[in-house]
Amino acid sequence: MKINSVSVQGFRNLDEQTIEFAPLLNVICGKNAQGKTNLLEAIYFATIGKSPRTRKDLEAIGFGKKNAKIVLCYERGGVEHCLEIELAQSLGKTVRVDGNQNVKLVDIVGLFGSVYFSPEELKLAQGAPNARRRFVDIINCQISKNYMHDLQVFQRLLNQRNSLLKNRSAKIKQELEVWDFSLARACARVGKARLEFSKRLEEFAKQAHFNLSDNKETLSIGYHSIYEGQDDFEQFYLENAKKNFEKDLALGYSTFGLQNDDYVFKLNGLDLRKNCSQGQQRTATLALKLAELEILKQEYGEYPVLLLDDVLSELDKDRRTKLAKYFKDIQCLLTCTDFDLDLDCKIFEVENGVVMAK
Ligand SMILES: Nc1ncnc2c1ncn2[C@@H]1O[C@H](COP(=O)(O)OP(=O)(O)O)[C@@H](O)[C@H]1O
Ligand SMILES: [Mg+2]
Repeated sequence: MKINSVSVQGFRNLDEQTIEFAPLLNVICGKNAQGKTNLLEAIYFATIGKSPRTRKDLEAIGFGKKNAKIVLCYERGGVEHCLEIELAQSLGKTVRVDGNQNVKLVDIVGLFGSVYFSPEELKLAQGAPNARRRFVDIINCQISKNYMHDLQVFQRLLNQRNSLLKNRSAKIKQELEVWDFSLARACARVGKARLEFSKRLEEFAKQAHFNLSDNKETLSIGYHSIYEGQDDFEQFYLENAKKNFEKDLALGYSTFGLQNDDYVFKLNGLDLRKNCSQGQQRTATLALKLAELEILKQEYGEYPVLLLDDVLSELDKDRRTKLAKYFKDIQCLLTCTDFDLDLDCKIFEVENGVVMAK
């Protein structure tokens, strides 16, 4: 896949402009706070229909403006497509694909593929479980509409269950029984897909980490799920939801479910989060992102676009050289403050929201 151009209007600090990219490496240079990350954010927005930086997407509308618009023209299978996303303070998000307005936001997921990697992503190795679940969920949503649907149903039902618990009506026990049937089903489907996916992720991430660590370290991924060792996921959920009823009611939220799942990464058997160095955590994070790249390639039939935000300076020379191998086959948009790799590329300079080709 490759981006031919992106047009932005009213998006964060970016001026209204159209930027044309080269088919392979594009280097976007600039001082701090000029708009480099904002540009990659706009592009990633078109991948998942939301921002990688904030849950409140409308915050991406430029200060004092009412609307923002992103128009991404990309090539897939040699055919050019145009994806438009409009953010409006009044209407929220609307999308258009190849001029067609009858498209829902969820429909754009899986059309244009990109992998976003920034220093923040270190939270995959160091952070709370939700960062790891989100990573896996975003990949799965891109490769399976069913997964995206099940996940949305699960989240909606869980929110509703929690508000029932908080509001405690007289008939709460009966009400929950009805919810829990549907919740058990959605929960089981998502849980099953995550279990299967963790093996696939491990296969690719293990290979990538092995290469990055000069064949010294073996990365393994364990999915710590409520369903571990269970046969009947739905039944298991229902039993536990019942068992935890009094506790849930006292606390005002659901204590049992997929919301507690986590992935445990290990290097040569040592817990990445607790027992490995920051350097190893960086390498493993990069390996996970490269695994994402390979999995999406398998699904899309071609590589997605690689968005590297300020990551080169964090990698040592050896890792950088290994990463640079990808620049020969994949379109990559890379931001930095100084660029010192000797590679063929198109260079841009960003200053105060204006992106100029050099
Ligand atoms: N909604 C917004 N409207 C206008 N400017 C914004 C908005 N959100 C962030 N900014 C500005 O964008 C700039 C940061 O841009 P960013 O892309 O993160 O910089 P960098 O070039 O360092 O990656 C800051 O000056 C910030 O004030
Ligand atoms: Mg930045």
